[in-house]
Amino acid sequence: MIFCITTERLLLEDMNREDLVSMMQLARDPRVMKYVFIWLENDEQVAGFVQHAIDESVRADRQDYVLAVRVAGTGEFAGFAMLEIDPEQPTTAEVGCILVPGCWKSGYASEILRALLAFGFGRLSLHRIYGKCDDLNHASAHVMEKCGLQYEGTLREHVWLRDHWRSSRYYGMLAGEYRPDVP
Ligand SMILES: CC(C)(COP(=O)(O)OP(=O)(O)OC[C@H]1O[C@@H](n2cnc3c(N)ncnc32)[C@H](O)[C@@H]1OP(=O)(O)O)[C@@H](O)C(=O)NCCC(=O)NCCS
Repeated sequence: MIFCITTERLLLEDMNREDLVSMMQLARDPRVMKYVFIWLENDEQVAGFVQHAIDESVRADRQDYVLAVRVAGTGEFAGFAMLEIDPEQPTTAEVGCILVPGCWKSGYASEILRALLAFGFGRLSLHRIYGKCDDLNHASAHVMEKCGLQYEGTLREHVWLRDHWRSSRYYGMLAGEYRPDVP
């Protein structure tokens, strides 16, 4: 059965092979990938990533939810979202999302993050959910702050990311801090 989270305007559902072309287009766009710390540098890496998402979707003890984001009603591919359970610490998960530029600034990322928090703290009974972003990725930082994640610190210049040293800002929320009713 296909896993699907429904939000007001979006569907977050298991990827399929037909998403590969959209995923390749997304990964080839330097505006999208500028601050993204996932290695999707060529079509082969994207194909491996999509295959991993599909393999995880049928695993009995699933740990990674790598989900295609589609606009409800039209089914238009809007990007992808992730909730990845830490294999060393299964009460913790990392969340994130990457959207096509035509979908930016519509509040989609905030809608997605709220849905992942509800899923993670609700159905998965997680204790801690966190996200991280490039120090220069102000939109991403803003989304996490807006959704109530607390800034926890910055790991400074820990990796060379394509054209700059990346510093990662970490944001987290604990189960006891989660307020489902706060928009
Ligand atoms: C980061 C990203 C997910 C945000 O998606 P989005 O749907 O535009 O996010 P939202 O519309 O929910 O919210 C964006 C917020 O950031 C603000 N924002 C946008 N660009 C900004 C910038 N350069 N500086 C500061 N704030 C910015 C918006 O005004 C909005 O805030 P508001 O709702 O208070 O007005 C999207 O830009 C994206 O996919 N970028 C490329 C991939 C990426 O960087 N992903 C995150 C990896 S950690």
